[in-house]
Amino acid sequence: MKSMIIVCVLAIISLFCFSADAHARPTERLDQRTQMCRLIARTPLDWESEPWGTGGRKFREVCKSCHSRENESGAPFLHTESYTSAAWNRIFFKRRKKCARNGSWDVLSEEELLLINDYLYRNGAWTYDPNDADSCG
Ligand code: HEC
Repeated sequence: MKSMIIVCVLAIISLFCFSADAHARPTERLDQRTQMCRLIARTPLDWESEPWGTGGRKFREVCKSCHSRENESGAPFLHTESYTSAAWNRIFFKRRKKCARNGSWDVLSEEELLLINDYLYRNGAWTYDPNDADSCG
């Protein structure tokens, strides 16, 4: 019940935000597995440093080791904008994709998976806004 209320409140807040500014990098992410509200408003430099940088680095090292442009593992090419923020959240919440079920994600700790999810959520499809201060510094 409590989580329903939180979800509703977040939905209303995001509706409000989206009507004000359709494209802006999200600054918070509700993680359904841990029921944590993760604060992800970081400057680009923060995303290069630890621990936040771990998300992007591990995405490149682990996920992109298969999901690169021309790979031989049969994995479709993936980049941050392959999915919307909400879709990335679902992928990490459900862990139903073949590679999540066959153990390919097991080299990553729970903390690293959270950080990759944060990174992809923050940079998912439709989050880029050229007029957002975040994008120019
Ligand atoms: C060992 C290789 C490997 C690694 C590492 C890997 N994947 Fe995959 N992934 C695959 C393959 C192969 C498929 C296609 C499976 C199929 O046939 O449906 C796939 C499918 C997917 C899909 C579905 C794509 C689609 O278009 O259907 C997503 C999303 C995905 N992976 C995300 C990730 C993420 C996020 C990570 C890192 C946390 C990751 N994968 C790590 C091999 C990998």
